[in-house]
Amino acid sequence: MEKEIRALKARKNAVIMAHNYQPLEIQRLADVVGDSLELAVKAKETTADLIVVCGVRFMAETAKILNPDRKVIIPAEDAGCPLADFLTPDMIREARREHPDAAVVIYANSTAQSKALADIICTSANAVNVVRSLPNDTILFGPDSNLAAYVQREVPEKTIIPLPPGGHCYVHAGFTIADVEAARRRGGEIICHPECPPEIQVQADRIASTGGMIRGVAAGGDEPWWIFTEREMAARLRVLYPGRVFYEKPEAICADMKKISLEDLRRALESEEHEIVLPPGVMDRARRAIERMIAAGA
Ligand code: 13P
Ligand code: SF4
Repeated sequence: MEKEIRALKARKNAVIMAHNYQPLEIQRLADVVGDSLELAVKAKETTADLIVVCGVRFMAETAKILNPDRKVIIPAEDAGCPLADFLTPDMIREARREHPDAAVVIYANSTAQSKALADIICTSANAVNVVRSLPNDTILFGPDSNLAAYVQREVPEKTIIPLPPGGHCYVHAGFTIADVEAARRRGGEIICHPECPPEIQVQADRIASTGGMIRGVAAGGDEPWWIFTEREMAARLRVLYPGRVFYEKPEAICADMKKISLEDLRRALESEEHEIVLPPGVMDRARRAIERMIAAGA
């Protein structure tokens, strides 16, 4: 299967981009493995004819928005992100009417239609710097309210309004104080994703995007690390740093990130399905907001 996929990839001049939460067998075949920001930046740079995104829909949409003239496909059509679905375009329009002086910062984990209404996009890797780069004192921030709380702590001079107030990722919302206590009993450092609830964030030794976790662990010592995010991240870190100890939470599984199998990937390369198609106007507006993020270099 792996040989077939590599041959198809070469024949189609395709690039395979995989998120850090993808199963290792998919990561092994990918040309690029990274966090949302790294995938967006690489999508902008590629010269491939076919872009295959192994991740969830918003990641494939971002790749398409940045490459409107290339074919972008996702091997599992129904791989969504429940967090993205918390925010609707109507919520953004209404919040803008209520807060006309606020900037609208939309997290990458959102639909293309929501991105099209943003002033600027951010990911978990650059949310703090994106918000700092804006002149506005008030920021409408969605859809992740835990990431909004993190940004508020880091940028206390601005008012961050979560949009909607309770938007969250069920995988990260599942981390509890009991998990922190269990980690403290066994020892080691806790690194958590900013989508974890604020009460977990304040107990963690570090807070980072998935790409930031790779860099943070490299810079840290040889102690065991508790990886408070989707569990595949610990597997990825074990591949990158053999011999080091990483603990995951076995129940922290993003079901949508597990929808792509090797057979799906092979079939997608062969049939060039499922293609991401978005209205050109939506893509143009969303692209401006994504490019503003990339230009901010945050
Ligand atoms: P990263 O940008 O940190 O990879 O996060 C994406 C995501 O979906 C987190 O759940
Ligand atoms: Fe969305 Fe959460 Fe899955 Fe990330 S882990 S893709 S935020 S549902």
